Amino acid sequence: MSETAIAAPKGLYLETFGCQMNVSDSEKIVSLLSDLGYRPVTDPALADLILLNTCSVRAKAESKVYDYLGRHRLRKLKNSRLIIGVGGCVAQQEGERLLKRVPYLDLVFGTHSLHLLPELVRGAERGERRSATEFIDTETRLNLFPQAADTGGITRFVTIMQGCDNFCSYCVVPYVRGREISRRSAEILGEIREMAGRGAREITLLGQNVNSYGLKSPDELHFADLLREIAAMDDIQRLRFTTSHPRDISPELIACFAELPKLCGHIHLPAQSGSDAILERMNRGYGREEYLATVTSLRKARPGLAVTGDIIIGFPGESEADFEATLSLLEEVRYADLFSFVYSERPETAAAGYSGQLSRGVKQQRLERLQRRQHEITGEICEALVGTVQRVLIEGVSRRGDQLTGRSDANRIVNVPGDASLIGQLVDVTICQSHPNSLLGELSREG
Ligand code: SAH
Ligand code: SF4
Ligand code: F3S
Repeated sequence: MSETAIAAPKGLYLETFGCQMNVSDSEKIVSLLSDLGYRPVTDPALADLILLNTCSVRAKAESKVYDYLGRHRLRKLKNSRLIIGVGGCVAQQEGERLLKRVPYLDLVFGTHSLHLLPELVRGAERGERRSATEFIDTETRLNLFPQAADTGGITRFVTIMQGCDNFCSYCVVPYVRGREISRRSAEILGEIREMAGRGAREITLLGQNVNSYGLKSPDELHFADLLREIAAMDDIQRLRFTTSHPRDISPELIACFAELPKLCGHIHLPAQSGSDAILERMNRGYGREEYLATVTSLRKARPGLAVTGDIIIGFPGESEADFEATLSLLEEVRYADLFSFVYSERPETAAAGYSGQLSRGVKQQRLERLQRRQHEITGEICEALVGTVQRVLIEGVSRRGDQLTGRSDANRIVNVPGDASLIGQLVDVTICQSHPNSLLGELSREG
């Protein structure tokens, strides 16, 4: 509460790991703690409070948290008033255990406990050590839905749902984020209108599986209708969403790709594997042919649609033939980009108890084979863009400072020489060169 705020600002050093859910929670954390007089600092040496907003999706992400905590421990030795806290998915998973395991840690807050953070910080200022990781009821969660910070910006992210009910057998998210809830449609539309008023031109809707938005909430719009409402806003030029679950791609959503020119020609559609046997054991709810049929329907609705995906290599019981099936999926889909991960055993998940766990060496070899092939495919796709005209939303000045930078409809970074007055505009760019992570072009004409 603001009446307790003190005059001298205190430093908050906040490190965010993991997905966009954490990024949006971190925005909320900053705004909640500003009421206690904490202001973000970029140098941990200037901090009175260090918070880690953590990810637990793979073991590597989790162990990173302990590495970072170890580093901050030295700061605490020098400054005993420094408060250190852990939030996010590792906090949710470990709760009290984290306080026991890390003696210099002051507070732990779970994914449903952001609203309790000011109280925990005040307690820590008085020398208390506490953790809050209770899951809360749906109604309360709906009322506490994190709203994006009031920062302006041309491309903005809007969280439309939280949690996940899919229980893919390898995945920790349903355990650390709780049940799936869809944010109120009116609130989403209101937030986007406000963003548009402050200059937003591109909106990306976020959730663990956005395309099941509203299915369990009879009073809310369905996902396709939500897209239509947003596309009808004059100031919004582009619309994206992520992540989609292949099982929940409805005919209405496919129709949106044909009907809504503002909906960008890109979909992130994680397959996870190309083998039916593995997909079944992953509890994904679709087979290889269904996945491919969905991609075909989407590309029929929007010719040239760029598809990106996620693949897990070395799921328990993955045979050489299963792996070959995944490799051949790459040839059939021709992913524009692919995020591939070695299977990592996660606590509580069904697959952690599955037989047939593979050795690290086999998993690594397969990952490298897959990544090599995908690298070639991505290169071929980018090379084929040379000479074409791409519509680019100019977002700002490139990192090197001498060019404008933006993204194509298919979400590729495009750099182009031009005047800063074009920032915020859609322009046509003729692609001249393709680089591993970006394209270089020249302005064709202003959009
Ligand atoms: N909700 C999204 C993504 C969630 S996590 C979806 O359903 O697609 C992001 C990616 O991490 C997943 O798509 C998956 O490829 C990967 N992942 C999740 N759990 C994993 C695990 N235990 N080991 C390795 N990769 C994992
Ligand atoms: Fe995890 Fe599956 Fe939910 Fe994605 S859909 S978050 S992979 S359980
Ligand atoms: Fe990681 Fe939690 Fe997101 S586990 S991927 S930060 S939902």
